[in-house]
Amino acid sequence: MTNEKIALLDAGAQYGKVIDRRIRDLNVECDILSMDTNTTILQQYKGIIISGGPSSVYALNAPKYNKNVFDLGIPVLGICYGMQLMNYHFGGTVEKKARREDCQMQIQIKTDNLLFEGLTQTQDVLMSHGDSITVVADDFEIIAESTGIIAGVRNKEKKLYGVQFHPEVDLTKFGKKIVDNFLYKICKFSGNYTKESQLNSSVKYIQNMIGDKDVLVLVSGGVDSSVCAALLAKAINHSQIHALHINTGFMRLNESCQVEHDLKKLNLDLKVVDASDAFYNATTTIDGIKTDKLSEVVSPEIKRKIIGDCFMKVAEEEIKNLNLDMDKTFIAQGTLRPDLIESASGIVSSSAEVIKTHHNDSELVREKREKGMVVEPNKDLHKDEVRMVGKYLGLSDGLVWRQPFPGPGLAIRIICAHEPYMDKDFQETNAHLDEFVAKYNLNATLLPFKTVGVQGDSRTYNYAVGLSGKAPWSVLMNIAKEIPQYFHNINRVVYIFGQEYTKTISKITPTKLTHDAIVQLQRADDIVNKNLMKYNAMRKIAQAPVILFPVSFDKENKRRSIAIRLFITNDFMTGVPAVPGEDIPQECMDEITEEILRDSSISRVVYDLTPKPPGTVEWE
Ligand code: XMP
Repeated sequence: MTNEKIALLDAGAQYGKVIDRRIRDLNVECDILSMDTNTTILQQYKGIIISGGPSSVYALNAPKYNKNVFDLGIPVLGICYGMQLMNYHFGGTVEKKARREDCQMQIQIKTDNLLFEGLTQTQDVLMSHGDSITVVADDFEIIAESTGIIAGVRNKEKKLYGVQFHPEVDLTKFGKKIVDNFLYKICKFSGNYTKESQLNSSVKYIQNMIGDKDVLVLVSGGVDSSVCAALLAKAINHSQIHALHINTGFMRLNESCQVEHDLKKLNLDLKVVDASDAFYNATTTIDGIKTDKLSEVVSPEIKRKIIGDCFMKVAEEEIKNLNLDMDKTFIAQGTLRPDLIESASGIVSSSAEVIKTHHNDSELVREKREKGMVVEPNKDLHKDEVRMVGKYLGLSDGLVWRQPFPGPGLAIRIICAHEPYMDKDFQETNAHLDEFVAKYNLNATLLPFKTVGVQGDSRTYNYAVGLSGKAPWSVLMNIAKEIPQYFHNINRVVYIFGQEYTKTISKITPTKLTHDAIVQLQRADDIVNKNLMKYNAMRKIAQAPVILFPVSFDKENKRRSIAIRLFITNDFMTGVPAVPGEDIPQECMDEITEEILRDSSISRVVYDLTPKPPGTVEWE
């Protein structure tokens, strides 16, 4: 048996699957295993990586691990928690620092070791930690540092390496090179795991699961479900495939017509169902209690749950109409690897905290999954890998490069609220913010509603803040990075276009998922997408959520505002906002704002300046 595989021991990392994908990108196969995997199994691997995780190594509830892991003669790379564990195991100390770090920063590395070979001394890396090494264990040496923080250690003889930062994410500029060094220079892999072998295994996976049964593909029109459908078409007989598009009422302007047109090209039998009324009136039960109708609900998680459940109910109805036997019919979904990480699904990471309930992971799907009847041929792929597969299968550029759109659609891009969210900390935070930005001659105003973010391996649900005034984009982007580091109750920073805004906002425009709100957002979203196309900026930007939020910046308090989030990422786990004037033309931004403001029910347009972490891609 070949041992051309690496074991990734999962300590509950937010970025666990990203490490795995980096490794696969470098043509090495990877298995994700639990921390306490036994020695006999570990000995079958050529290298071991221990991931990050939300616990502290010294905590009572820290994940149990196999105490032999460092003595097998197999090279080990510990990342974040993994490095701290290694140091703690060998008698060093790890302690909590006063300030968490969740940001890109510069470190100094020693380049005379195999892990950092070929790199320059100063490196930009993503840090995301609360604990740090304070005393290095015997026989370990420091190989990377940043002011006051030990950022890398090694024990040369035992081939044990540790890094405090995350080499697997895009925000660590030369992270790929570091992983490459570990795989090829330290573990000495041959690199026999290629894209063709991955595609063949997806096709075999579909054939083995479905056999000669029927399968229903729920096609949203996005690249994930389209590639899923194309893979099915490659793997099995077309008469077994039943493609269904459900219009939830939260689609983009004219999206459903577009989907119908595009899928005909795949020669698949597509049925389009307009279920917007059913969604509008849908309810569900959570912990035995019936929820309000979707049109009355403001909580993002309840909205997701209702939409996810209603979606599957409508799909079930349609299966009946298709005269398919539900018990024997498989469901195919375009679920991606990061989707599963973020829902902390048991399949992926047993320790990850729940970041958000995922649309693709509703109870009905879980039931089907337990019966082994959910087919997810993209479940091991990240977005960029799915695009490559799509191209390989011959899908058109228009489809392959379509902007990703979440399952619940515009429903989670309309921030709903009955009343302002102004906790005890509101006034004080607002005052401190003013002091904080005064040195830049800017104004800051706290926005009285919550949006989702992620800090470390935990989910946050916090205030957003709006900056106004005149400053270069680079300065604004830096302030946006700093604010959430100092204000833990803020996870998102936006720039308010137009005149400086000096008032405090203490009211909101009550907002639910009503027709008028949907129309306001569809219109703005269409303007953003058309202009991005026009300026050929689609490829640079990985995702462009446009959000309707319930704030009027002027006296007529019936109005709402629009946020634009132009997000650059390869992995969707981390990323940065596009810089106007650099990543997209300033004229494009100007045209977008001007056109959106022609709608007199929109008060202001704001631009999201927040990297991820701490701000997620979506606002909910
Ligand atoms: P976040 O907002 O967590 O998003 O940074 C990461 C990626 O996941 C997408 N996303 C969703 N997709 N149903 C989906 O199908 C959802 O409920 C959902 N929430 C987030 C998001 O658009 C981004 O691509």
